[in-house]
Amino acid sequence: MNHFEYRHHVLHCEEVPVPLIAQGVGTPFYLYSSATLTRHFLAMDQAFADLPHLTCFAVKSCSNLAVLNLFAGLGGGADIVSGGELFRALAAGVEPRKIVYSGVGKTPEEMRYALLSGILMFNVESSQELAALQAVAAGLGVKAPVALRINPDVDPQTHAYISTGLAKNKFGLPIEQAAAVYEEAKGLSHIEVVGVSCHIGSQLTSVAPFVESIHKVIAFIRRLTGLGITVKYLDMGGGLGIRYDQENPPEPAEYAAALKQALAEAPGCTLIIEPGRVIVGNAAILVTKVLYTKSGAKHFIVVDAGMNDLARPSLYGAHHAVLPVMERGQGQMTADLVGPICETGDFLARERPLPESESGDLLAVLSAGAYGFSMSSNYNSRPRVAEVMVRGDKFQVIRQRETLASLIQGERIPDWE
Ligand SMILES: Cc1ncc(COP(=O)(O)O)c(C=O)c1O
Repeated sequence: MNHFEYRHHVLHCEEVPVPLIAQGVGTPFYLYSSATLTRHFLAMDQAFADLPHLTCFAVKSCSNLAVLNLFAGLGGGADIVSGGELFRALAAGVEPRKIVYSGVGKTPEEMRYALLSGILMFNVESSQELAALQAVAAGLGVKAPVALRINPDVDPQTHAYISTGLAKNKFGLPIEQAAAVYEEAKGLSHIEVVGVSCHIGSQLTSVAPFVESIHKVIAFIRRLTGLGITVKYLDMGGGLGIRYDQENPPEPAEYAAALKQALAEAPGCTLIIEPGRVIVGNAAILVTKVLYTKSGAKHFIVVDAGMNDLARPSLYGAHHAVLPVMERGQGQMTADLVGPICETGDFLARERPLPESESGDLLAVLSAGAYGFSMSSNYNSRPRVAEVMVRGDKFQVIRQRETLASLIQGERIPDWE
């Protein structure tokens, strides 16, 4: 459920008519509903209320300070994958002891920053990374809390680009090698083994792959116990999918029930989850304005948002529903919804029934909250768009539209003298 709905044929976000915001901030813009963000965070978090757990929101999915701050206020932690995301999480008020650091390529500088910040744990993905972390921690005279990321070789049945738990993917350690790396970690002076982690992919639409992987991870934890290594945290990553089109993903409660059943076999562990998409995906829309329409072999609706603003359709062939902001009895036409970028791959929807549109109409691209703004770029030297949040009958800009000056900030013409 989300808080975007028509009232008297005008799309509203909570109590605010979308055209009113467009008038105030211009287009395009991302529009977040704080009621939906809150509802989705709590649905996920409360599904695990009866067991020790920590919900670490995956910052990569949506990294605006206002969004992170909202979740921090609800008791959430953060799953980060870079020093930049750590900086954001801390600036948003996330408690360092609720931050887990994932990713295959942490640099020594990033490790140092995270150690000095006092994060909960590093999800380490290779033996070389472990050695690098040991060296950085030794240099600082501290112990680095570590979980090793296991690659369980489970097929998440999702898009190849967002599948991470197969043996052929770059992520984690093969289970067969992981026990040896744990023994290695145990012997390191500045490493403290605290957990096991796993993340098999994103936009999963069934619980079966989660169940298969948690069973493998729990069997692995038992093996570790046999080796005299006990862990406090079991981090199962994120990945629960949402409905963009016809998908029928499990509800958080169903996902939680499946994990909890398996967890009964790993008593004493605190569960960590790293949901991103399921919380923010349907909590935002991208509002764009029709510039032109043109027809030849096909119909095209040219809008002011492009693949640099929302990359998912071009990158993954992803589906985002498109609605008119004002219903005025317009019919539908099969068309491509395209942006101003000089690439044929620049589309938001292709060969889809779309609202019959004319120049100046506003369109809403739905389910844009996850991997939307956070994946946007300045390609074609386009300033990144504004982000706006609604709460009840109020709205505020939570990220200003970039200016032309911001496009060249930091650039310099060399003087070669
Ligand atoms: C390590 C890790 N945790 C959590 C997530 C969040 O995934 P999702 O947005 O599908 O919940 C990702 C995304 O790929 C990830 O790589």
